[in-house]
Amino acid sequence: MAQHDDGENTVAAGSDVEKSAAPTTSAGTAVILSDRFENPGLPPHRLRVTDLDPKKDKTAERRVVTLFYLSIVGSVFAVAAYVAFPIRSGDTNSVRLNTLFLGLGIALGLLAVGIGAIYWSKNLMRGDELSESRHLTRGTEATRERAVEIFKEGNQESGFGRRSLIRNSLIGALVAFPLPGIVLFRDLAPAADPAKQLEHTMWAKGTRLTHDPSGAPIKASEVTLGSVFHVIPEGLNEKEDRLEQKAKAAVLLMRLEPALLHASAGRESWNYNGIVAYSKICTHAGCPVALYEQQTHHLLCPCHSSTFDVEHECEVIFGPAKRPLPQLPIAVDSEGYLIAQSDFHEPVGPSFWERS
Ligand code: FES
Repeated sequence: MAQHDDGENTVAAGSDVEKSAAPTTSAGTAVILSDRFENPGLPPHRLRVTDLDPKKDKTAERRVVTLFYLSIVGSVFAVAAYVAFPIRSGDTNSVRLNTLFLGLGIALGLLAVGIGAIYWSKNLMRGDELSESRHLTRGTEATRERAVEIFKEGNQESGFGRRSLIRNSLIGALVAFPLPGIVLFRDLAPAADPAKQLEHTMWAKGTRLTHDPSGAPIKASEVTLGSVFHVIPEGLNEKEDRLEQKAKAAVLLMRLEPALLHASAGRESWNYNGIVAYSKICTHAGCPVALYEQQTHHLLCPCHSSTFDVEHECEVIFGPAKRPLPQLPIAVDSEGYLIAQSDFHEPVGPSFWERS
């Protein structure tokens, strides 16, 4: 049977003796036994050197101020490092330098303000040891009023109001410290206006149509009736941001009997002998429209089944897409290779961007 010692008697847990020791408690309530030791109280207060010597007090104050200024330097250094060592795409060394100096600046800013605050409280704020008995969470009105008084006394004793140099340098350090974080938010925004970037693609007058992914130019004679080609603009593979460019410039090339094409006014010359080129980016949500029905001349988007009629300028005949696939005007150069007459005449991709 479990036993415990209350300092005077050995008591068997659950016995009548224990119950009689706490007659008002219910089952499951802890029984509080009297303290086994006398409260030794607090040791006598020892004055610090800063309490005894005004010169040491002044030195300590200067140290605190220096630490807070150091914190400001660290935060400003972090911002400067972010600008001075930008991350360049594909350059791991730039990532290392940016991370290293940014981290050093932030660490210095945080460490110095932390050490300064601890040093201040240990050496300059009032250093009396206090003890407080446990009490209910919410104090009486008198206790609460006393708490306010203590708060005011604390303010006075810490010298927060009186030591204006420390107070102001601390405020400066705390204001400067979040700046690196704010600057880091810049990375969340694209470098250029995304709506503007989506208005144009790599296609321009004279750009050759090439095979995806090899980049080999396509001759008009290669494109036989019923065939379909996945196309990218010439030079795309050499671009640093080729994936971003491809996401806008991908094209599907098909050849139909010229008599089947219903070109609207002004677009009669956009095809070459029945060869037509349309954006591969679905106008619903941007999936690649990659399924071509050779018999019906329909293009299908695999994501939500939008269907586009190639004979009628890729108008939507089924599905959630709201506008036709943009057409790329094409022609042939002197060597027989297919070229673009210009960029698309409207933004490619989801309809949202059309509203920019
Ligand atoms: S993305 Fe093409 S139908 Fe939804």
